[in-house]
Amino acid sequence: MATITEMNETVEMRIGKETYSLPVVTGTYNEKGIDISQLLSQTKHVTLDTGFKNTGSTMSSITFIDGAKGILQHRGYPIEQLADQATFTELMLLLLNGELPTQQELSTFEDNLKAHVGLKGGLKRLLDAMPENTHPMCMLSVMVNALPGFYRANLDSWSDEQVRWDSIYFILANLPVMTAYIYRHHHRLAYIDPDPSLGYVENFLYMMFGEVDEDVADALDALLVLHGDHEQNCSAATVRVAGSSHVNLFSAIGAGVNALWGPLHGGANQAVLEMLEAIREDGGDVERYINKAKDKDDPFRLMGFGHRVYKNYDPRARVIKKYVDRVLGKLGKEDPVVDIAKGLEKAALADDYFSSRKLFPNVDFYSGIIYRAMGIPVDMFTVMFALGRLPGWISQWAEMRTNNEPIGRPRQVYIGPATRDYVPIDQR
Ligand code: ACO
Repeated sequence: MATITEMNETVEMRIGKETYSLPVVTGTYNEKGIDISQLLSQTKHVTLDTGFKNTGSTMSSITFIDGAKGILQHRGYPIEQLADQATFTELMLLLLNGELPTQQELSTFEDNLKAHVGLKGGLKRLLDAMPENTHPMCMLSVMVNALPGFYRANLDSWSDEQVRWDSIYFILANLPVMTAYIYRHHHRLAYIDPDPSLGYVENFLYMMFGEVDEDVADALDALLVLHGDHEQNCSAATVRVAGSSHVNLFSAIGAGVNALWGPLHGGANQAVLEMLEAIREDGGDVERYINKAKDKDDPFRLMGFGHRVYKNYDPRARVIKKYVDRVLGKLGKEDPVVDIAKGLEKAALADDYFSSRKLFPNVDFYSGIIYRAMGIPVDMFTVMFALGRLPGWISQWAEMRTNNEPIGRPRQVYIGPATRDYVPIDQR
């Protein structure tokens, strides 16, 4: 049997009669990690942690989360301050470069983004070839994964600094274009060409709806900031692992898009709105759904609740909740699911099942209500998440390549059949 005891900056691990010393690494806020990278060669043991619930895959300086206290910071800046005061393009530079940009740096960056806006006609035809009722995340995946075919100069997006930045500018500049085109194709509407005189978020809204409401643009900017990065979540970890094979940036981002789509991750924002609508259509009996979520024989889960890392209120949800009333008020809209959402939250927070498991609203619980008030259809919500998360994915990819991290390749403990002889088909 193995036991672990902490001893200052190393831990000792005893396996049988042997004792091994493992180094301990310490983070900015004194969080500790046991470095097991030599464990296999020293002890012939691997660690087992399905779902990586307790496994650190890297030492990162981009985003800090204290899940117990509900703290989220990017490069040291609290998310509440960034959501209130920073623009989305400012956040992009903060995530990518590590520091807030000066006005000059930001202007140059925004000019570079504008210079890269525009998709080749072949990509539009590729989108046109897809059935209109295809899920928008599938369309996004197809478009992002097709980029290396259309922009072959970016196939090695790392070795040459200029090509690297060209790839970064290109995908940042054009994800809004792809998103707007996907929306318009999905709704059988003609594409609207980008207007280079507009800012990043305004141009996106213009390509979506043909007009820009400044209140909507401000709220969307803040929503995108709130989604900017979230350290080693499912999609970011996927981007890092895919990118660790040295595949090009576009393909690594494509992997992240696919990982985001699932309802346990970014797809939850769509699932939340569908759940709230279903409760409304069913008469609005919040208690019944709380009981369903608690029933282990019922597959129903309270979507938008719970988080792998947060064991406290998700700070992003707190900010978004503030925006719900503000945005709906400004836009003069009412949404009957707002009351259902608030009722569900109140009932869940007062319920021992949720409080004992530390299940709180996450970022997806209220975001869909705002997207819907902006006129964005429910099945586009996860694409909106991807738009916000893109700078985070790129920063995670760049950090992984800068650190020259090895290829991501977990181990396993094999529990299948032991060696046996092949049996010819006529003898089985
Ligand atoms: N509704 C009901 N019970 C829940 C919920 C929920 N939403 N979330 C967790 N639980 C319960 C589990 O059944 C489990 O109970 P048990 O200990 O009695 O078995 C306990 O809480 C712990 O949950 P796990 O699933 O083990 O936690 P994990 O960290 O693996 O999963 C996850 C986290 C996937 C986010 C989960 O909470 C969930 O499915 N939530 C709903 C989907 C969702 O909102 N996803 C978005 C997350 S944020 C993001 O990715 C952007």
